[in-house]
Amino acid sequence: MNKRDYARMYSTKLNKVSAISSFGFLEVIKGFTFFDLIASKKPILEVGSGIGTITKVLLDNCSNKIYCYELNSFCRGKLMAIKKRNYKNAKYRMQVTSNIDDLTRINFSQIIIDGPISKKQLRKVVQNSTDLKLVVIENYRLLQRVWVAKVLYKGKFRQQFVEILHNDKPSAAVFFTNKQSQTAYFHIIFDFILVLLRLLPKLILHTYLSKGAVLLLGKNLEIPFERKEPKTSFRA
Ligand SMILES: C[S@@+](CC[C@H](N)C(=O)[O-])C[C@H]1O[C@@H](n2cnc3c(N)ncnc32)[C@H](O)[C@@H]1O
Repeated sequence: MNKRDYARMYSTKLNKVSAISSFGFLEVIKGFTFFDLIASKKPILEVGSGIGTITKVLLDNCSNKIYCYELNSFCRGKLMAIKKRNYKNAKYRMQVTSNIDDLTRINFSQIIIDGPISKKQLRKVVQNSTDLKLVVIENYRLLQRVWVAKVLYKGKFRQQFVEILHNDKPSAAVFFTNKQSQTAYFHIIFDFILVLLRLLPKLILHTYLSKGAVLLLGKNLEIPFERKEPKTSFRA
């Protein structure tokens, strides 16, 4: 694919994105299911499927196989119930797992992230996904955005980053990706630098703001883009 084809392909996608960017995340996902890249019928990975809100939108709007990665056993139970009910053919289209190693040999066309995943896990998942065309991160998750960019760069993907706003607030990040051969190394580095230029200033600002708050207020405020596992504690 030459430079012009590449630009044309992405500008078409970007037009579609801006058309749906004022909607919420689920609308964004619905919009993407109409993309030709999802119509490729390659599997979709959903990280942090929870009780299946996004899963159902996917089941409703495309016919791809969906792999749900979820650690919480209660949520996995809810997902299994969707599968058991055979919601939109879910029996055959839906896989639920809490083991990342079940996912490393699959060629995903799309990864939707709405839960924690480490860089190492993401790298494992991406390594066989030569047809990966889209990575969507729900919400702000700034640090995760930087990780995704780095994993895509190391996996030799070209990438283009689009921020989705909802009511003027970031509601999702979308990476359009395209696996390249070794010869496209310059493009791969160039894309990665462009994404970093957009993300790093925000990351540095957030880090300094949170450090400043610690110094000024003397207490550790949670950084908005970090998601921590809830801790259960008991008071007598
Ligand atoms: C924001 S919720 C996702 C909600 C989900 N999209 C839904 O529709 O219900 C994040 C999910 O990530 C799951 N989670 C937490 N740690 C995880 C991990 N290390 N790997 C995968 N999922 C994880 C949580 O159990 C939770 O269900």
